[in-house]
Amino acid sequence: MWKIHNKLLIYILWIMEIRLVSSFTSAMLCGRIPGLTMAQRQLCSDMPDALIALDEGQQLGSRECQQQFRGHRWNCSGVWQRNVFSHVIPIASREAAYTYAIASAGAAYSVTAACARGNISTCGCDVRHKAAPPDWKWGGCSADVDFGMRYTRKFMDARELERDSRTLMNLHNNRVGRTIVKKLLRTDCKCHGVSGSCVMKTCWTSLPPFSVIGDKLMQKYHKAKTVQAVRGKRGLRLVLSRKKHAAAAAAAGAGVAQKPALVWPKRMELVYLEASPNYCERSIQTGTLGTAGRPCNRSGHGPQSCDLLCCGRGHNTQHIRRKQQCRCQFHWCCSVECELCDENYEEFTCK
Ligand SMILES: *[C@@H]1O[C@H](CO)[C@@H](O)[C@H](O)[C@H]1NC(C)=O
Ligand SMILES: *[C@@H]1O[C@H](CO)[C@@H](O)[C@H](O)[C@H]1NC(C)=O
Ligand SMILES: *[C@@H]1O[C@H](CO)[C@@H](O)[C@H](O)[C@H]1NC(C)=O
Repeated sequence: MWKIHNKLLIYILWIMEIRLVSSFTSAMLCGRIPGLTMAQRQLCSDMPDALIALDEGQQLGSRECQQQFRGHRWNCSGVWQRNVFSHVIPIASREAAYTYAIASAGAAYSVTAACARGNISTCGCDVRHKAAPPDWKWGGCSADVDFGMRYTRKFMDARELERDSRTLMNLHNNRVGRTIVKKLLRTDCKCHGVSGSCVMKTCWTSLPPFSVIGDKLMQKYHKAKTVQAVRGKRGLRLVLSRKKHAAAAAAAGAGVAQKPALVWPKRMELVYLEASPNYCERSIQTGTLGTAGRPCNRSGHGPQSCDLLCCGRGHNTQHIRRKQQCRCQFHWCCSVECELCDENYEEFTCK
């Protein structure tokens, strides 16, 4: 009897020790990440395994952002270098809107994917019984995007402590980012039946490739709306900017005729407060690197063209000659012989 008791006691002590040790190490781990707010530190110690997924999510967002803006004047490089989980981009620009949205989408995406892989102890697959058409049923592992969104909301929104217009902008764009992940979920199905006939289907929801999310947010970036904060009964709120309308009315000599109605931005559109700098010159104040020395395309017309990228400063042309293998021939058997030829080409970089 005593023996069993003893064993049980040791077991309890052992469990307690594991709890203690793991909460101790996760608190240490979370204490070492710079720039976390108190609430973020708490979330981190509660669920350290989710933090690994969040970190993956930031990398995913960062890579996609750089891919989407490759060759543009602002190319999303260096944005998350200093501290992955804190504020980025001092100017409340359209680019900041995209950055917050893609970071938030990346986080929701990675947490959801990690849940489905079984890497986070407190989540898994979405097993709620949803309505399905008669010839199919839900099965397999459906992505639990609601958990991913919830955790991301708690974590990403926890850094928005200032109660100002920039906070509202960030919170709005964060929500667009994580919600887009849910909206772009796919339904995958597998057929069951004799020789591939689809008498019965098992279906589950899955995450699309992350580039699909990056593309969608890019469309939203182009259609982003300027907003301003107004103080209402329930505190500060964002409304579509009326500056343009007011200026037009003043120019027409209309004076202060009528206060225009306030229009809220739509839930799923990206919003920003300030016009973007032109990103042409290097400036520490705006955190821009400038475009001098960037490779550009002389024949194109897009954002990568020398015209646009070099901001009218012109470009340098470098003539490059290199030797390359050419006129290769296959000899029986088995060797390939090539000649060396000179190849000339030009490279253009912004002045
Ligand atoms: C997730 O789990 C797999 C194996 O199940 C492991 O190889 C991988 O390193 C884990 N990733 C993270 C981020 O924990
Ligand atoms: C992005 O822009 C910076 C500064 O203009 C430049 O140094 C960097 O090489 C660019 N990155 C890519 C991938 O083009
Ligand atoms: C330059 O732009 C043209 C036209 O858009 C494109 O066909 C070409 O591949 C581009 N060149 C480079 C080096 O990106």
